[in-house]
Amino acid sequence: MSDFEGLRALVTGGASGIGRATAELLAARGAQVAVLDLDPSSVEKPLRGYRADVTDDTSVREAVAAAVADLGGLDVLVNNAGIGAQGTVEDNDDEQWHRVLDVNVLGMVRVARAALPHLRESSHAAIVNTCSIAATAGLPQRALYSASKGAVLSLTLAMAADHVREGIRVNCVNPGTVDTPWVGRLLDAAADPAAERAALEARQPTGRLVSAPEVAGAVAYLASPLSGATTGTALAVDGGMQGLRLRPVGQ
Ligand SMILES: NC(=O)c1ccc[n+]([C@@H]2O[C@H](COP(=O)([O-])OP(=O)(O)OC[C@H]3O[C@@H](n4cnc5c(N)ncnc54)[C@H](O)[C@@H]3O)[C@@H](O)[C@H]2O)c1
Repeated sequence: MSDFEGLRALVTGGASGIGRATAELLAARGAQVAVLDLDPSSVEKPLRGYRADVTDDTSVREAVAAAVADLGGLDVLVNNAGIGAQGTVEDNDDEQWHRVLDVNVLGMVRVARAALPHLRESSHAAIVNTCSIAATAGLPQRALYSASKGAVLSLTLAMAADHVREGIRVNCVNPGTVDTPWVGRLLDAAADPAAERAALEARQPTGRLVSAPEVAGAVAYLASPLSGATTGTALAVDGGMQGLRLRPVGQ
C-alpha cells in the first residue's frame, strides 16, 4: 500500500515497541517519518530521530519545530510515548502519580499543542493516540496506569470534537498486552517470568500476546486518508480481550 505517499508523520516514543513498528509501517506505506523519543539513538534511516522528553514543553516544542522544518510540514501525529505503573491505589505515592500522568496524559497534550498549528495546514490531518485496554476494562494492579489511559480515552474524544471542523481527525487504539520491550521488562521482573507470560497470554481470547506490528496496522488504518470519515473512535487491538466472553476451553 502507498496510502501515505507524500504525507509527513511524527511518532512519539518511536524508538521502541509499538512506536517503532508504527514509524516503520508508515514509512513503508510512503510517509516521511520523524521519531521523537527520549533516546532516538537506535532510529535508522529512512526514519529521522529527534531527542525530546514529552514532560518538558520546551524540548517538545523544539523537537516538533525541527521535525516539521525537516519534513516540510505535518499531516499525521501518533501520540504514543508512555510509561507503565503497577499496583493498587495504595501502592503509588503522589510523586509517581504526577510522573505517570505527566508522561502519559500531559505528554500527549504538549505534543498535540505543538503540532496542531502544522496539522491545520494539512488536507489529510490525523492524530492517533495510543490508549490501552486499561481504559475500558478493570485490570488488577493497574490503578495509576488505568487512570492515565482513561484520561487518554476521554482526551481523544474531546480533541476529536474540538478539531473536527478544522479537518483534523482524532482517534485512539486500545491495545491489549503487546509483546514489546516494555512487557519484556515486566516479565523479567516477575518472580516466575514464564508463568507470568502464560497468565498474560491466557487473558487474551486469542491465547497469545498482541504483536507491535498488529497495533501499528491499526494506527495506520486510523491515520490513513482512506479513513477520512473516522474520528472520535477507539479501536481495540486486544485479541478479543475487551469484547469477548469465552467459556473455559473444553466446556
Ligand atoms: N506494551 C503493551 O502491552 C501496551 C499495551 C497497551 C498500551 N501500550 C501503550 O503503548 C505505548 C508504547 O508502549 P510500548 O510497549 O511500545 O513501550 P516501549 O517501552 O517499548 O516504548 C516506549 C517508548 O517511549 C519512549 N518514552 C518514554 N518516556 C518518554 C518521554 N518522557 N519522552 C519521550 N519518549 C519517551 C521510550 O524511550 C520508548 O522508546 C505506551 O503509551 C503504552 O502505554 C502498551
